[in-house]
Amino acid sequence: MPYVLGVDVGTTRTAAALCRLGGAGRAEPEVVGLGGPGGGVASSLQLTADGTFAVGEPGDPRWTATGFAARVGDGVPVVLGDEPFTAEELTALMVSWVAGQVAAREGERAERIVLSHPVGWGAHHKGLMHQALRVMGLDNATLLAEPLAAAAGHSFARGPVGVFSLGSHAFSAAVVRPFEVVAWAESPDQDAGVDFDDLVFGHVRTELGRAFTELDPQDPRTRGLYGRLRRDCEAAKRVLSGTFETAIPVHLPSGRVDVPLSRAKFDELIRSSVEQAVSVFERVVRGTPLEATVLVGGSTRIPLISSLLPGRVVFEAAPETTAVKGAALAGRHMLLGPDDNEPIETSVLVRDDDPLLRFPVGDMDVPDTDFTAPPPRPPIDITPLDLPERRSVKRVVRGLAVTGGRRRSRDAQDSEDGR
Ligand SMILES: Nc1ncnc2c1ncn2[C@@H]1O[C@H](COP(=O)(O)OP(=O)(O)OP(=O)(O)O)[C@@H](O)[C@H]1O
Ligand SMILES: [Mg+2]
Repeated sequence: MPYVLGVDVGTTRTAAALCRLGGAGRAEPEVVGLGGPGGGVASSLQLTADGTFAVGEPGDPRWTATGFAARVGDGVPVVLGDEPFTAEELTALMVSWVAGQVAAREGERAERIVLSHPVGWGAHHKGLMHQALRVMGLDNATLLAEPLAAAAGHSFARGPVGVFSLGSHAFSAAVVRPFEVVAWAESPDQDAGVDFDDLVFGHVRTELGRAFTELDPQDPRTRGLYGRLRRDCEAAKRVLSGTFETAIPVHLPSGRVDVPLSRAKFDELIRSSVEQAVSVFERVVRGTPLEATVLVGGSTRIPLISSLLPGRVVFEAAPETTAVKGAALAGRHMLLGPDDNEPIETSVLVRDDDPLLRFPVGDMDVPDTDFTAPPPRPPIDITPLDLPERRSVKRVVRGLAVTGGRRRSRDAQDSEDGR
């Protein structure tokens, strides 16, 4: 059965959902298992010796790209061996891999791919991403801002909806109406999931005192201990979203020690960071009566966050898939129109005097009579409408196989390194 595919390439994790185009009634998006924990897959690409990319596998950092999704538009390339890749090229490779996996399972290619992207992307970022997707042969891909995707997954989302997004690295707050971002803010300095892990790590270090500080940082066993402890701190943080007490195992040379951590203590560690994010959200909302606030991103599983947000908060069982499920549903709407045939209000009032917001946007409770109605707009922001020609590239990447140049390059470098 034909389907549309929603994809979200996050800084650490890539998720996908599909929505079928056949059948009667409202179609529910289905999260697609990509082989990693929780259904997604790590956003990592390792250039292997045979010139192909291994997806989602930890590997030699010289050959493994991670965190690229957050660097789209950054002129500094990601260098694997001695080969430079742009962040958008790597992001498009992830999308291509996901699309290929799903096509193999479904027996056909997606009718359309909807890639959710950070709300702060302007025409430049979107143009680069579109170009990279086209080079990868993904001509049927559309970009959709994450808060629009998130709200599209909710049938109640007719009036203004808040979207609070906190992932592993990124934070954003937005107010949206159907297919319009009315107000938004991103705070690059805002603590997110990895920073919470650091706070837990710091707590363990404090609790252990000298037993920790006297570890020899040059000893390879200490480096192994740090790596394992970081993973255990992250796991403890996740556990505390569902329970009140846990303990973090520390494998010291003298033996294992368990450091207890309660949810109350964890909340104390992260409270000021969370309050900061909530206050940015409140500034973006500026008193707009929201129908509800949708949570996006794995870090919003932390109960303290929903407890501090004002108004009605929509908490999904897996908020790290909220955007991708909505993206798939939005893709269905693009092709078939909304399920209930209700007209979609696309007008937007633009007025603001708050310098704290990145883009000037307006209060939404100002009477319509103060404004001239804006011209009709397309219901979905598909950019760029005027797609550039395919770029000529010095190398061609097909699917996930890399042409001989890079293969020779890795072989040559491996033999130079004596590997
Ligand atoms: N149960 C949980 N409790 C608290 N945090 C969690 C839980 N599950 C996952 N996380 C955190 O969510 C983060 C991953 O979320 P998500 O998959 O939305 O991130 P991402 O999309 O890769 O990153 P970003 O949106 O920042 O680019 C990680 O920091 C992870 O530790
Ligand atoms: Mg994300």
